[in-house]
Amino acid sequence: MAILEINNLHAEVAEEGGEHILRGVDLEVASGEIHALMGPNGSGKSTTAKVIAGHPAYEVTDGEIVLQLEEEDVADVDADLEEEDYRWNLLELEPNERAALGIFLGFQYPAEIEGVTMTSFLRQALNAKREEREELFEDEDDEADADEDESGYDSSPMEGPTDEGEIGVAEFQQLLKGKMDLLDMDEKFMQRYLNAGFSGGEKKQNEVLQAALLEPAIAVLDEIDSGLDIDRLQDVSEGINALRDEQGTGILQITHYQRILEYVEPDHVHVMLDGQIAKSGGPELANELEDEGYDWVREEVYEAA
Ligand SMILES: Nc1ncnc2c1ncn2[C@@H]1O[C@H](COP(=O)(O)OP(=O)(O)OP(=O)(O)O)[C@@H](O)[C@H]1O
Ligand SMILES: [Mg+2]
Repeated sequence: MAILEINNLHAEVAEEGGEHILRGVDLEVASGEIHALMGPNGSGKSTTAKVIAGHPAYEVTDGEIVLQLEEEDVADVDADLEEEDYRWNLLELEPNERAALGIFLGFQYPAEIEGVTMTSFLRQALNAKREEREELFEDEDDEADADEDESGYDSSPMEGPTDEGEIGVAEFQQLLKGKMDLLDMDEKFMQRYLNAGFSGGEKKQNEVLQAALLEPAIAVLDEIDSGLDIDRLQDVSEGINALRDEQGTGILQITHYQRILEYVEPDHVHVMLDGQIAKSGGPELANELEDEGYDWVREEVYEAA
């Protein structure tokens, strides 16, 4: 079981006199759990997500983000692990290193990339993760001879040069097909350029597909439900539930709407106000917010202060 621990996180926009956005966020998400993060526009939800992923637009000025792993989270790692290989201070790591450790961020506004097919993008993403993971957990003693077989061909010359541990084209196609079936996605998308001309809903479904392939310990999904029609909302929700049920991913689901929470039932619901978690509760909290908005939470916070 992996646990993402966020303690007293403060962050501001990384520029001269940049706005102080996060003002002491505390949050803990363990694998297998589903957390909903709600809150008004501009309260800092996306900023929290981006800071977890290591977005360079923000500077962390206080607090910590730690990823605590257990043996089962590093079962794929072929190295002798030490105690420090289980506890990672994410703030010291690059975004790609955080991803390799098992943090996934699904964007509120996924980018379109012309010229790169979905298949090729996804395969590269998976291989990049594997390679980075090897480097992160590499035995120090082995580092000296790690660079040796860079240009080696593996057993099938059809697949071209591959690094050790890299997934080949054929094996990848099979893996991808399984994940797409799981999400009920049309295979025609795979030869198209990444998100280019995809509808809003198709882009969101794609984010879930990426998470299904990369099998993160913790996935942060930013408004994955916005702009989805009712059918697609159900497909995407099934995909998210599958992430949790079949690969044990912990989900931090940022949303404005109670509707998706009917399909993806959260264990915990948090309300963010002005860069802090103002209130946490169970699924019933989402219903209260749906009915009554955020003012009463604001009043509660005000009265407590
Ligand atoms: N790079 C940035 N530069 C300047 N201001 C920023 C930047 N990123 C975020 N902000 C500001 O920080 C505040 C929080 O933004 P954030 O995107 O985290 O809100 P949110 O809770 O995700 O809102 P929404 O529900 O509308 O998506 C906003 O006032 C936003 O304008
Ligand atoms: Mg947002």
